[in-house]
Amino acid sequence: MKNIFRLDASIRREGSVTRAVADTLQASIEGRLGESRVKRRDVGLFPLPATAWAASALAGFVPEDQRSLEQKEAQKLAAELADELVDAQAFIFAIPLYNFGVSQHAKTWVDILLTDPRFAPGAPRLLAGRPAFLVVARGGGYGAGTPRHGWDHATGWLLRILRDVMELNVELIEAELTLADVTPAMASLRELAAQNLQDAHGAAARHGEKLASLLAPGIAAE
Ligand SMILES: Cc1cc2nc3c(=O)[nH]c(=O)nc-3n(C[C@H](O)[C@H](O)[C@H](O)COP(=O)(O)O)c2cc1C
Repeated sequence: MKNIFRLDASIRREGSVTRAVADTLQASIEGRLGESRVKRRDVGLFPLPATAWAASALAGFVPEDQRSLEQKEAQKLAAELADELVDAQAFIFAIPLYNFGVSQHAKTWVDILLTDPRFAPGAPRLLAGRPAFLVVARGGGYGAGTPRHGWDHATGWLLRILRDVMELNVELIEAELTLADVTPAMASLRELAAQNLQDAHGAAARHGEKLASLLAPGIAAE
């Protein structure tokens, strides 16, 4: 049985593009692997306590027998987050762009996770080479030549953490212009937005097929 870890960071349950595209990816994997087990952590709807980061980070500087209950609980949470990753053979991260930056809930998740000794600087990279997918959604358009090119300060940081710090083998799946349908000023971009969304779902389905064949070599990608 293969374990897949999925993180969701959208603050929306309904109408979320990152959730929908990640669902397509997950369904494509499960449709082929069947017996895969997806462990989900939803920091968008069930945020982690932001104070746990400082408590866990500073606990490392306090002798074990002198740590406060808050510090011990924060370390336990960090260990739980680390366990979820170490136990998985593949990963789905579904994370929207908020205020030109990374979702604070996803950032808190990363910050707490990195306080676990298994993810500390210098520790062996336990996840190195494992396949991962980063699904991002942006309300606007950020392509080269657009006025907001370079304003997405989330995707680069997330890739830095997932690729360079955790050494995951990451494929990026992007959907943008997701606000076109509800923003009158973006009406002329609706067709482009629909195409963009369709492409993101298409990429997710294809990546799911490839991942299934990677995790269970007997299964051929279509
Ligand atoms: C509080 C908030 C801030 C947002 N900030 C931005 C932003 O800075 N740039 C942008 O392009 N879209 C922004 N958006 C739009 C989201 O990126 C877009 O709706 C995306 O589809 C959200 O992901 P979801 O569909 O999975 O919920 C913001 C949305 C919310 C709710």
